Amino acid sequence: MTGLPALQLDSVGVRLGEVDALRDVTLALDVRTVAVVGENGSGKSTFARLLAGLIAPTVGETRILGLDPVRQAAELRRRVAVVFSNPDAQIVMPTVAEDVAFSLRPDRLGRDETRRRADETLERFGLTDLRDRSAHDLSGGQKQLLALAGAFVRRPDLVVADEPTTYLDARNARRVAAHLLDDTGHRLVLVTHDLSLAERCDAAVLFVDGRVEAVGEPAAVIAEYEATLTRVPPC
Ligand SMILES: Nc1ncnc2c1ncn2[C@@H]1O[C@H](COP(=O)(O)OP(=O)(O)O)[C@@H](O)[C@H]1O
Ligand SMILES: [Mg+2]
Repeated sequence: MTGLPALQLDSVGVRLGEVDALRDVTLALDVRTVAVVGENGSGKSTFARLLAGLIAPTVGETRILGLDPVRQAAELRRRVAVVFSNPDAQIVMPTVAEDVAFSLRPDRLGRDETRRRADETLERFGLTDLRDRSAHDLSGGQKQLLALAGAFVRRPDLVVADEPTTYLDARNARRVAAHLLDDTGHRLVLVTHDLSLAERCDAAVLFVDGRVEAVGEPAAVIAEYEATLTRVPPC
């Protein structure tokens, strides 16, 4: 343990090509579940990718789970799992069971332990009966549950989910949200446009134009977000 908050950013900026996707982001959050809200293009996905060690900050200091995402990138990627909106992009193996087992490859657990962990995770996500099915032929909801299984089978300390319910119907969205929010020993950063889902997190962060506009109790942050929406820009 480092004693640092799980998410600590000091004056962080991320420049992507000609765009300042994140500007002067300073945050220290140690709650278990964090919602990230904001309009399209406000920097939410850039923030999510930064936390997952998928991109490096251009300026500023970042510690995620106490780790430096540049110098300790491999360790960070081992401890953080990512879930995106589009489950098709996350399927890499032909069958459901193989796809879940594939996520464990970096952990070099051996065949029996890999199988045991994969089976246990398939059961947890209600995929046992589909284990030998073609992963690409699943329904959208089943595919997203498979993506969650691939993320959770590694027992991550932090799950970063970027709009994980966007393409799902109401029932599957609830199912996926329940798995993400359920306390199974992981922390969660959840980028979402579903404000009722954001409200169920311990804290929320509002991004506007690459900057943190508000951070704190979800209800207060969402109220601030809604207030920004009434400021309609001239077309
Ligand atoms: N690879 C990229 N190259 C250049 N600009 C990018 C890239 N990815 C995102 N951006 C820009 O960065 C800003 C923030 O994008 P993003 O983090 O995807 O926002 P959000 O997820 O909130 O919609 C936007 O202006 C977007 O166009
Ligand atoms: Mg995005």
